[in-house]
Amino acid sequence: MRIPVIAGNWKMYKTIAEAVDFIEKIKPVAAKADHCEVVVAPPFTALAAAAHAAKGSKVAVAAQDLHSDKEGAHTGDVSPVMLRDAGCTHVIIGHSERRHDHAETDEQVNRKLKAALAAGLTPIVCVGEMLEERESGRTEEVLRTQFEGGFAGLTPSDFSRIMIAYEPVWAIGTGRTATPEMAAESHRVLRELARKKFGEKEASAVRILYGGSVKPENVGGLMAQEEIDGALVGGASLKVDSFTALVNYPRA
Ligand code: PGA
Repeated sequence: MRIPVIAGNWKMYKTIAEAVDFIEKIKPVAAKADHCEVVVAPPFTALAAAAHAAKGSKVAVAAQDLHSDKEGAHTGDVSPVMLRDAGCTHVIIGHSERRHDHAETDEQVNRKLKAALAAGLTPIVCVGEMLEERESGRTEEVLRTQFEGGFAGLTPSDFSRIMIAYEPVWAIGTGRTATPEMAAESHRVLRELARKKFGEKEASAVRILYGGSVKPENVGGLMAQEEIDGALVGGASLKVDSFTALVNYPRA
């Protein structure tokens, strides 16, 4: 039984006060949501205050990135230990915006993933193809490359502690959602890769979230797919009403 996860990725939005206000409002919503786990990913500046506000509630706080070292001369970076210190339990790794804006490679994703695991954080590892890759029939190949590189050197027990987010790049922030069938197809590819690399038990247990223009209007169709175990949501996670509707997605 895979417990679904509804995660909000706030990207470069919200001040500390806005983040805390949002968490206070979403806490009672999360408390009633027995059917899923609720995660929000504020920007670095608001993490400690958000985690403080969320303490003892069902709202988990994620960072949006981390450095792979514990400490060091890395201006502008934040370490896994610092994220734990700020109260984070989860961390998003390898989001396509970081892969593109900061030229992050699968090798860096892999190092960050191992550092997050070593620090006791739950990594949410993002993979997904670009439009030209999909249009040239290379989706599966891209997912395989990202999977092999990103998850290199992990044991089945390491793998059992992570979540994957399948986010086709062409669907992020564009209003163009993958159809539930398209998303489920890629999730099946990822689960099969997990089965080959880590085994049946780990593959059937790993939560694979879909991300890319998820909104209250389309979340039900996506979540109805057996293969889709949750959503990583950007734009539609920023307003309390909309995030509430996502957490309370239509269920059969
Ligand atoms: P979006 O972003 O929901 O705004 O498309 C999703 C994401 O980037 O995680």
